[in-house]
Amino acid sequence: MSQHIFFSPEVDFPLPFKRQALALTYAEWPTAFSGPPNDDEPLNAPEREPHCIAWIENGEVLSYTGVQFITLSHDGKQYRAAGISGMLTAPQARHRGLGLKVLRKAAQLMQSQAADISVFTCDPPLAVFYAAGGWEVLGNTPLIGGSRERPMRSDDFGKLSLIRCFTDHGESIRPNLDGQAIWLDLGERQLW
Ligand SMILES: CC(C)(COP(=O)(O)OP(=O)(O)OC[C@H]1O[C@@H](n2cnc3c(N)ncnc32)[C@H](O)[C@@H]1OP(=O)(O)O)[C@@H](O)C(=O)NCCC(=O)NCCS
Repeated sequence: MSQHIFFSPEVDFPLPFKRQALALTYAEWPTAFSGPPNDDEPLNAPEREPHCIAWIENGEVLSYTGVQFITLSHDGKQYRAAGISGMLTAPQARHRGLGLKVLRKAAQLMQSQAADISVFTCDPPLAVFYAAGGWEVLGNTPLIGGSRERPMRSDDFGKLSLIRCFTDHGESIRPNLDGQAIWLDLGERQLW
């Protein structure tokens, strides 16, 4: 059996892998699409330096995540921040450790791309999964996506915030977190 992890900027993600990642994403979150996705549909927001990571077995994408980057402003400082977007494993391949392989590669990629921190959200049961990958739950600190006019607070959706710091500058955000929401300024209806 051939198996390997593949990662690249989204623009270089081979079309057969992209098609499979889109199909898996559509099967998991159909309401995020207006209809079955076509080849031109991006997996991630093109303006956020999107990268794709996939675990491939015999040419089949079995686990996938997107990684995106933004500049985040918090309490007067700016941070290069990375998010996980659309993490999933094909239903028939779950609980084989493939998601964790992809997640750990995502952390390496974030570091290699000079991220100070990584912040994103998850449903509470998945905190165990992300903790195993190296993230920690940020209690009392919601992330705010959407726009300034139409903010989307993660705790309004029952989501937990996750954080990981990669640099000393990233670590310096910690004293300014408790109770202060982090604005991501991602744009209308987006929370990574
Ligand atoms: C979350 C997801 C990506 C995990 O992928 P996976 O390849 O099955 O994960 P792993 O096999 O690497 O899991 C490692 C450990 O994380 C934890 N874990 C994984 N999935 C979990 C889940 N759904 N609930 C709670 N804990 C989970 C378990 O401790 C697991 O170890 P175990 O299999 O020995 O119990 C997968 O369940 C999935 O695609 N879910 C649907 C989409 C989704 O919700 N994505 C997350 C968006 S934030």
